[in-house]
Amino acid sequence: MPRLHVNIDHVATVRQARLAQEPDPVLAAGLCELAGANGITVHLREDQRHIQERDVRLLSQTVKTMLNLEIAWTEPMIDLACELKPAQVCIVPEKREELTTEGGLDVSAYMDSLPAGIKRLHEAGVEVSLFIDPLPEAIEDSARCGADYVELHTGSYANASGKNKENELKRLETAANYAHEMGLRVNAGHGLDYENVLPVAQLPWIEELNIGYAIVCRAVYIGLDQAVREMQDRILAAAPPE
Ligand code: PXP
Repeated sequence: MPRLHVNIDHVATVRQARLAQEPDPVLAAGLCELAGANGITVHLREDQRHIQERDVRLLSQTVKTMLNLEIAWTEPMIDLACELKPAQVCIVPEKREELTTEGGLDVSAYMDSLPAGIKRLHEAGVEVSLFIDPLPEAIEDSARCGADYVELHTGSYANASGKNKENELKRLETAANYAHEMGLRVNAGHGLDYENVLPVAQLPWIEELNIGYAIVCRAVYIGLDQAVREMQDRILAAAPPE
């Protein structure tokens, strides 16, 4: 059964709406952990539109579970990750004009720099995940460049309906099996919510689910503690009966 990593970017989105101090994602991370989150995920975008470098610096000292830092594949971001040493970095594609990460990383476009950069991160004690669409070529390239994990982009599954949703789930299953066969560990995330998480949690080999928006939305109504606990309950339902 996968572990729940709560992405707290949108706590920072609310704070940045007023360029103020509250709500503080550092405090929110602690509350998520007290509610049973197994890890904390943040995306430090180059434009720092939500999470700030200050947040990552503090979280790298305060998170008790594990910190997963999402970054674009740029030299300054790699330098920061090597300095702060989160347990894991997840490399994501980044476009200034997008509302959220739109697609998986084009791993083939970075094959010149990924092996050496991943080696650097490994030497700093950081595990590396690549956020990819569930495609065989992306999985093969991820294995070739030495990544530890792939995070399968579940956005197409989340946005689909009816027969298309079943097909997207099948694509995720095939990708999870193939990634495992290629020696990669497997995470998943994007667009997961209380209604669609269970079939993904039941897929083979998935170790971590990164879930943000749905939890922060629900937290506005019922509080962060309860919102995290309810998501954990949905994921727990994926456990096989004893
Ligand atoms: N995984 C990755 C790599 C992401 O970029 C994001 C969004 O920041 C998520 C998971 C979480 O997506 P959501 O906020 O839709 O749950």
